[in-house]
Amino acid sequence: MLQLVHDELYIDQVSFKSLAEEYGTPLYVYHQPTMQNAVLAYKNAFAALNPLLCFAVKANGNLSILRYFASLGCGFDIVSGGELARVLQAGGQANQVIFSGVGKSEKEIRFALESGIRCFNVESIAELHRLNDIAGSLKCKAPVSLRINPDVDAKTHPYISTGLKSNKFGIAYDDALEAYRLANSLPDLDIQGMDCHIGSQLTDVAPLIEACERMVRLYDQLVAENINPHHLDLGGGVGICYQESDHQPDLSLYAYAVKEIIGNRPLSLILEPGRSLIAKAGVLLTQVEYIKQGEEKNFIIIDAAMNDLMRPTLYQAYHHIQAATHQTNHEIVADVVGPICETGDWLGKARTLAVQSGDLLVIHDVGAYGASMASNYNARCRAAEVMVSGSLKTLIRRRETMEDLWRCEVE
Ligand code: LLP
Repeated sequence: MLQLVHDELYIDQVSFKSLAEEYGTPLYVYHQPTMQNAVLAYKNAFAALNPLLCFAVKANGNLSILRYFASLGCGFDIVSGGELARVLQAGGQANQVIFSGVGKSEKEIRFALESGIRCFNVESIAELHRLNDIAGSLKCKAPVSLRINPDVDAKTHPYISTGLKSNKFGIAYDDALEAYRLANSLPDLDIQGMDCHIGSQLTDVAPLIEACERMVRLYDQLVAENINPHHLDLGGGVGICYQESDHQPDLSLYAYAVKEIIGNRPLSLILEPGRSLIAKAGVLLTQVEYIKQGEEKNFIIIDAAMNDLMRPTLYQAYHHIQAATHQTNHEIVADVVGPICETGDWLGKARTLAVQSGDLLVIHDVGAYGASMASNYNARCRAAEVMVSGSLKTLIRRRETMEDLWRCEVE
């Protein structure tokens, strides 16, 4: 996807210099063929199970990106009414939408029922009752799947690990049968499936396989009670390699294990990958403002900041940073930081780079949880977003203007 041509970095056939000149910086740049390849990797690995891939909208909700995933046959995993509105606005089909999340409001449930979504992943007994009541009042049946917490340690960052007993997510495994019996007894619920999601950025597939085993064990207990879910939703996708030392998850092994575990049970498969479909397709293009020699270390001060990319400061996440132009060969070791007035405003620590003021840098692997987690902190306008394919570049979100900053305020 990225290559150096005469010391200048390109994404496919487009130079970052030309992108910076045309659209300014900071700029999110996505590579469409990389998105397509990521979808194909899932489709190939899981070919024998023909799963519905529901792209997790929280990873990147840009309308053009959603539209592209829809064109590849993806459905969507949503966690709010806003995400449903985005999917519909992008032309996605409601009957390919799965609604996850612990705190669905009455308004969101009504909106989703009226839109005709495929299934609600219900996370508590209280939510089952609320969903049943609202469906009754709308004279329809709500399609449900229960999100079961399989109590498997995902061994990922604590902020994005969700499958342990101590997490707020899902219904406890030991309470699952009882919850299904209740769902089965409520008149306006229609049991469609089973669901779990144990966490994000899992680079070892063993916990995912263990969760699948536990879910299928539960399925057998349900069938014995004449409760027959049609689908198994295994939640988010596998992790990605942010740095060379990261372990590359084995998607084929995961797919093979899932197929073996499901065996000949009449269960269709749903997956909700976010990160692994889009992270590698996106980079954040930024310009060096200043090089500053501090008392103890050097700083490369860039025009992107923690408001554009929260992951480093929020999760101490590593994102590779590469120079996209070369005016100097003089390497320095420096922290790469933004202009925000917080010590936590860093994008990379102790990086070795040969750059000077005016050079361009790209921050890698930011297609997922990059732009979607951006904010206006320090009254910074959110970055523009561009899609690249071959030599084609398409603006998919314009840079915010100063007026956008106070658009919703009442004076
Ligand atoms: N399904 C559910 C119910 C989820 O909660 C999530 C992610 C996904 C699917 C998608 O998981 P993925 O395939 O992307 O691993 N902001 C964090 C990640 C938070 C993930 C939250 N849930 C980060 O930047 O690492």
